[in-house]
Amino acid sequence: MPDDAPNSWESRADAYSFYGFTDLPTIHDRGAVVLTHGKGPYVFDVHGRKYLDANSGLWNMVAGFDHRGLAEAAKAQYDRFPGYHAFFGRMADTTVMLSEKLIEISPYESGKVFYTNSGSEANDTLVKMLWFLSGAEGKPDRRKILTRKNGYHGVTVVAASMTGKPYNEVFGLPLEGFIHLTCPHYWREGEDGESEEAFTARMARELEATIKKEGADTIAAFVAEPVMGAGGVIPPSKGYFQAVQPILKKHGIPLIADEVICGFGRTGEIWGCQTYDFMPDAIIASKALTAGYFPMGAVILSPDLADRLQQATEEIEEFPHGFTGSGHPVGSAIALKAIEVILNEGLLDNVRKLTPRFEAGLAEIAKNPNIGEARGKGLMGALEAVKDKATKTPFDGDLSVSERIANTCTDHGLICRPLGQSIVLCPPFIMTDAQMDEMFEKLDAALKKVFSEVA
Ligand SMILES: Cc1ncc(COP(=O)(O)O)c(C=O)c1O
Repeated sequence: MPDDAPNSWESRADAYSFYGFTDLPTIHDRGAVVLTHGKGPYVFDVHGRKYLDANSGLWNMVAGFDHRGLAEAAKAQYDRFPGYHAFFGRMADTTVMLSEKLIEISPYESGKVFYTNSGSEANDTLVKMLWFLSGAEGKPDRRKILTRKNGYHGVTVVAASMTGKPYNEVFGLPLEGFIHLTCPHYWREGEDGESEEAFTARMARELEATIKKEGADTIAAFVAEPVMGAGGVIPPSKGYFQAVQPILKKHGIPLIADEVICGFGRTGEIWGCQTYDFMPDAIIASKALTAGYFPMGAVILSPDLADRLQQATEEIEEFPHGFTGSGHPVGSAIALKAIEVILNEGLLDNVRKLTPRFEAGLAEIAKNPNIGEARGKGLMGALEAVKDKATKTPFDGDLSVSERIANTCTDHGLICRPLGQSIVLCPPFIMTDAQMDEMFEKLDAALKKVFSEVA
């Protein structure tokens, strides 16, 4: 029960703040969790309760909640040069260094970076870049964007249009020209008797048929997360990117990797496109770019796209786009430090070391008769609840099974996220073996409790 005294934190949160993506009846009933601070992978609420955050905040706090080096990098930059923009040919020196570093760790030999404040804005920026190029290159009809159902690309008007989720219908979205292909989730979308290879081939045929129907000259890009995150942690079916990339290449359609979740180590390599062995024409980055210590996003352009954009920009003298906060020097200082911490101070190594324990934990829980599938890659995973494992029948939506599991976890000091009928786990990269065991023990207890009530 929430503390509903008018001056309680819960009441004050409810009275004056609007929550995003929150089931309001549940939150009125349970009260908000109002947090004060963090330590390693744990966060603490106003009542002193401690929670292991198995979701790294929102996939982003990969270095934990009290990393001194990141806070010191921010402080040093605030002391020296606390803010600037990247308009009119001016840019902070720290931002220049960050762009060099991002290209150095990108899969590209060269290229260019454009900064935003979020992943959504990075996707909007990318689409505007492509539309700008279409106009400049004399192909004004080349505007359609292909994505996949269950793909999540953000909430601004274009990013929400790219997102393949029905909830955007309440906004009258998607905009025209945003086309959502089938989600490459073999377990859910594969047909009876269809092998995974045959399923992937079907996904590729669907792409080819869509390009033919729409006309290759009307399509500006195909945008995909290497592993779908907010759609329910869905790794691509076997060989998916190897099947779709040649088709896109043949038709001259850029393949864009939305690495907002996968980027900076989540899947065990710096980039998800390296884990799945494909070469995108641009990368969308955010979240772990600053280890969650500053809002920042980036569009990282391959040399080819960077050159074409440069040429088009020179023709009309400028690229008329940018945010006041683009390339903020404090964000840049934090990002430089975050990259050093992830790559040189053992965080990526720890992702690799922890992955077998994470996979074993997921596999153990998947033995539960009400878990239909355990899936994931690196340190991102999901467990999908089902009423009937053999037929993959979901629970009745009114039972809100995944919300009940997540709420039970919260009651026992574990934060994890319900997504559809799945529970998502994406622990911080700093987790220890013991913390990972704690995570699975608490989750297992919550699953058993809820399934005993609903199954
Ligand atoms: C793959 C992907 N792209 C884009 C976004 C949007 O990022 P933001 O919430 O920073 O706007 C998200 C957010 O979760 C994401 O997961």
